[in-house]
Amino acid sequence: MCQEQKGFTLWFTGLPCSGKSAVADRVAEILRSRNLKVERLDGDIVRKSLCRDLGFSREHRNENIRRVTFVAKLLTRNGVAVLTSFISPYREIRDEARREIGEFIEVYVKCPLEVCMARDVKGMYQKAIKGEIKEFTGISDPYEEPLQPELVLETDKETLEESAQKVINCLKKLGYLDHNF
Ligand code: ADX
Repeated sequence: MCQEQKGFTLWFTGLPCSGKSAVADRVAEILRSRNLKVERLDGDIVRKSLCRDLGFSREHRNENIRRVTFVAKLLTRNGVAVLTSFISPYREIRDEARREIGEFIEVYVKCPLEVCMARDVKGMYQKAIKGEIKEFTGISDPYEEPLQPELVLETDKETLEESAQKVINCLKKLGYLDHNF
């Protein structure tokens, strides 16, 4: 019998435009190319479906993360490689996700606020500065940095490919991927 894939959740957290989705997408692509079962859970998509009733207050952001945690937990225990990309600004709820999911790898996508603001992919920082978007993370809402993440990516200093490779190396080190992966 072939060896079962061990499930895990890679939890990407960081400011808007820090690069969470880009790195998670690239890692997902690499894992899929090796025939692993992979699912992506992304803030922009989940907030149009499972969590379309939620806003951006602390309570709503935490509810968003709780629902995602529930899904990630089910997938993880069924041997899927789950890659989530949510700002998930509150430490307490990330720690709750860690406890619930168990096989949990926290990846802090670290990028200076100035660089994220310069990227401003969707023009939301500009709107937040003008006050057109309220409770915007980094501008008018907090982001609590992870204290002991399994991995830190510095997307202002690394290429996308380097960041993705760091994630793969981390998975190997933690025993989720074979050393010859
Ligand atoms: S989280 O805080 O609840 O984890 P999540 O990652 O799901 O946030 O959603 C973030 C996305 O929602 C951003 O990429 C952005 O497009 C959009 N968004 C809309 N309003 C806000 C806001 N006030 N703060 C942050 N992101 C916002």
